[in-house]
Amino acid sequence: MIAGLIRNQVAPPEGLLAAGPREARVLELSKRYGIVPYTDNAAAARGGDVVVLSVKPQRLTNVIAGLAGSIQSGALVLSIIAGASIDQISQGLRHPAVVRSMPNTPAQIGEGITVWTASPAVTELQRQMAGQILSALGEHIFLEEEYYLDMATALSGTGPAYVFLFTEAMVDAGVHLGFPRRIAEQLVAQTVRGSVDYYTKRDDPVHLARLRNEVTSPGGTSAAALYYLEKAGFRTAISRAIWAAYERSLELGKGGKSHAPDTPAQNNG
Ligand SMILES: NC(=O)c1ccc[n+]([C@@H]2O[C@H](COP(=O)([O-])OP(=O)(O)OC[C@H]3O[C@@H](n4cnc5c(N)ncnc54)[C@H](OP(=O)(O)O)[C@@H]3O)[C@@H](O)[C@H]2O)c1
Repeated sequence: MIAGLIRNQVAPPEGLLAAGPREARVLELSKRYGIVPYTDNAAAARGGDVVVLSVKPQRLTNVIAGLAGSIQSGALVLSIIAGASIDQISQGLRHPAVVRSMPNTPAQIGEGITVWTASPAVTELQRQMAGQILSALGEHIFLEEEYYLDMATALSGTGPAYVFLFTEAMVDAGVHLGFPRRIAEQLVAQTVRGSVDYYTKRDDPVHLARLRNEVTSPGGTSAAALYYLEKAGFRTAISRAIWAAYERSLELGKGGKSHAPDTPAQNNG
């Protein structure tokens, strides 16, 4: 985020105050980006127009307790913490203006996608600031309803993990076939990138099933491979995995009762 903010000239390095518990780490960030280092969260937050919360969910309670009362009344709090609800953050900090967002790792090269929402106390100007900050990470989508955040956590926030696992499995299969790993990696990476571009960069949007069908000749190689993937439950595994991530996000935020898509629905009569 720091790199993207500086790259996109959203803020000058000396306007960015970064706090973390390890002095060596914040000094390293200061040396690399020119930001102002702090080891005391409250001291860093005190002067901020926007306070970004980006600790692991498990650390949030302590961090919030240490920050409560230190945030300027006119400041915006922007959280990227998976599962942490606006209520949890807002009540803990005793601060009403909170943006909750869910980016993903390609944000590190400005190619992420972030879903975000805002509490009613967030002003139009603060929304614009949040949008500018998040655009340093790549694309972003604002949604009014907070419940989409847990869904986005499962789909796009955790999404790179599925893509990397799938890509890794394809590369390993290429090596199994006999390709040197370097060549298998190049073949797979460009196949994934090219396929996504072929889907997203066309003038006439089409359903993905049509593109899959395009490469599936009767009795051909794709048909043989797809038959096996369907038989192995590929589609269900993906669906179930994403649902598991969604449940975990709900659990992390203690935001609601989780359920699985394949557990029988409750009998409502
Ligand atoms: N990675 C992703 O793709 C992704 C996507 C969406 C959302 N998120 C969310 O982003 C948050 C951070 O994830 P991450 O992958 O960036 O984790 P990370 O690399 O471990 O970053 C967490 C940072 O918090 C610092 N920290 C630890 N304790 C602290 C404290 N008491 N006060 C202030 N700072 C503290 C850590 O410093 P030290 O290194 O010195 O311990 C570290 O720099 C998580 O809540 C995660 O859910 C991540």
